[in-house]
Order: sequence, then structure tokens, then C-alpha cells
Amino acid sequence: MGKIIVGKTSDILPGKMQKVTADGKEILVANINGNYYATDDTCTHAGASLSEGSLDGNVVTCGWHGAKFDCATGKLSAFPAKIKDLRSYKVVVESDNVFLEV
Ligand code: FES
Repeated sequence: MGKIIVGKTSDILPGKMQKVTADGKEILVANINGNYYATDDTCTHAGASLSEGSLDGNVVTCGWHGAKFDCATGKLSAFPAKIKDLRSYKVVVESDNVFLEV
């Protein structure tokens, strides 16, 4: 397991999210009230980039068909069909740098 820098804390302000590429994967990093969380960026329904959806509290809503996932856990929180949860990643902040453990 490695630690990869994905940006500065000032790049992702509270209530915002950003897609980053780390270890060859597209990952969504969200700042929820100053805490950083990371999940896969690719929606498990049909592959949309979740970073192009919307963030409300800790819930990211897919811009294509509206699946909702909890950014903190990666778990599906609302969708009519049963689809997989997102993989979540550990985020570490050190001296204004945001790292992912992948
Ligand atoms: S691709 Fe995300 S809900 Fe369909």
C-alpha cells in the first residue's frame, strides 16, 4: 500500500469534490466540512464520472441517472436498482497536502 499526493487542501474546499488520478485509478476526493474522503470516481451503474455530478452534504449524486452514494463510506444510499457500492480509500492530510492510501 502506498501514499500518493493528490493535491493541496486549498484545491478542494469544503463542499467541493474533485476527480484525481492516483495509481492509474480515477478517484473522487470530496471535502465534507473540512474532512476529506475518497471513493472511486466511476459510477457502478453505467460508468459516469461522479465528479460531474453534485455533492450535498456527504452524498454525491450521479449526474446521469441519479444514483446517490455516501462519500464517506462509498455505500449506495439511494437508487431504484441494486448496484455495487463504490470502493473507498483512506485520505491523510499532512501539512496542507492531501494524500491517498491506495
Ligand atoms: S451512470 Fe450513475 S446512475 Fe447511471
